[in-house]
Amino acid sequence: MPTPPTSEEPTFPASFVWGASTAAYQIEGAAEEDGKGQSIWDTFVRRPGVVLDGHTGDIACDHYHRFPEDVALMRRLGLDAYRFSLSWPRVLPTGEGKVEPRGLDFYDRLVDALLDAGVTPTPTLFHWDLPQALEDGGGWLARDTAYRFGEYAAVVAERLGDRVRRWITLNEPFVHMSFGYGFGVHAPGRALLLDAVPVAHHQLLGHGLAVAALRAAVPNAEVLIANNCSPVRTTSRPEDLAAAEAYDTLHNRLFNDPLLLGRYPDLSAFGVADPSWGGVVRDGDLEIVAAPLDGLGINYYNPTWISAPSEGAGLPFDMVEPQEPYERTAFGWPVVPDGLTELLVGLDRRYGDALPPLWITENGCSQPAGLDDPARIAYLSRHIAAVRDAMDQGADVRGYFTWSLLDNFEWAEGYHQRFGLVEVDFNSPERTRTPRASFDWYRKFIAAQRQ
Ligand code: NOJ
Repeated sequence: MPTPPTSEEPTFPASFVWGASTAAYQIEGAAEEDGKGQSIWDTFVRRPGVVLDGHTGDIACDHYHRFPEDVALMRRLGLDAYRFSLSWPRVLPTGEGKVEPRGLDFYDRLVDALLDAGVTPTPTLFHWDLPQALEDGGGWLARDTAYRFGEYAAVVAERLGDRVRRWITLNEPFVHMSFGYGFGVHAPGRALLLDAVPVAHHQLLGHGLAVAALRAAVPNAEVLIANNCSPVRTTSRPEDLAAAEAYDTLHNRLFNDPLLLGRYPDLSAFGVADPSWGGVVRDGDLEIVAAPLDGLGINYYNPTWISAPSEGAGLPFDMVEPQEPYERTAFGWPVVPDGLTELLVGLDRRYGDALPPLWITENGCSQPAGLDDPARIAYLSRHIAAVRDAMDQGADVRGYFTWSLLDNFEWAEGYHQRFGLVEVDFNSPERTRTPRASFDWYRKFIAAQRQ
């Protein structure tokens, strides 16, 4: 049985931002329209067997054509802000050079519609849909991709920067590196294991170059990055603790340390002994990566349980299932709200003065189809309370974006996992949207915060 929501919700500062998130490939559709180039997801989904039931994002929620309806839903929800991503190949079909004006026009119209509805546009520049042409040149394994990303940031900042102030550079660089290049379960589908590590540095270098481009083009730009962070849990056995530390290094510190401290953690547990990673990290790079941030976005779903590696594991840890009988989402992910408090407070303790304000840029759960979703309401209520707890313990958190506004294309799971406050009927040509009970709950919650 899901835990019922508490009757008394916590209160947050009046300036706290309430939002919802989506991403371009997961909702837009219009995969070949208005001059859009191919992204690595357009090509990856065509490989047999990589996405459940062969689903693709060709049409998705058809948001490209139906965005006014979605903005109307946001207005009804009373959102302060909406986090969406820009499709890089919609703006620059080959990732560089010639701009496609129709692609930029689409985001221009979306931004205007949001502002009209009183919703602050909060775009993410990269949510995993790299232009295929850049992948053909090595993708994020190639240093050049970082420079192309900086140029792309300059193009969109130039066009939208008169109306958009708050920007997010990358979404979950850890997941893109590990799922996309390490294990190959996401695009571009490369299974390089630890040879994927340069992807971390090139994304972070691209992030730093994008920060500079945004600051150059947008007066008072506020720049964030959205990192997927996971508190690591284990036993008190010394070998488990060592494994947990190695996992924390790869998942969390590999990204947070260079951004916040200007240095990489020691990767010798992963066979990377040389601090330049064999020439990948060049002189001056870390200064670019560590450009001051206005906020650190956190995408939180659950902790990770780790134990010492089994024989022949190939990595210095094993990922294991928790012993505790946690409630599970439809995806099977454990529901652990106090992991979010632990994470936020832990970041505060680890980075101290180097930590900028925190933003929850994603948090939410997949639940079975249907309009009545008490488990989602309970999930949101408990995680929002966990944010409040962290703030009470000193964490400076400025906003919360739930994942997601709409049911959408959940990567390798296709349309089988539903994260939306709004149900989408993927069998109807109109992609009919129907708000769920959780939509109403969030609407009332936000309204109550404003009283
Ligand atoms: C993280 C990703 O940023 C988003 O694209 C995905 O749909 C959600 N988590 C849920 O898995």
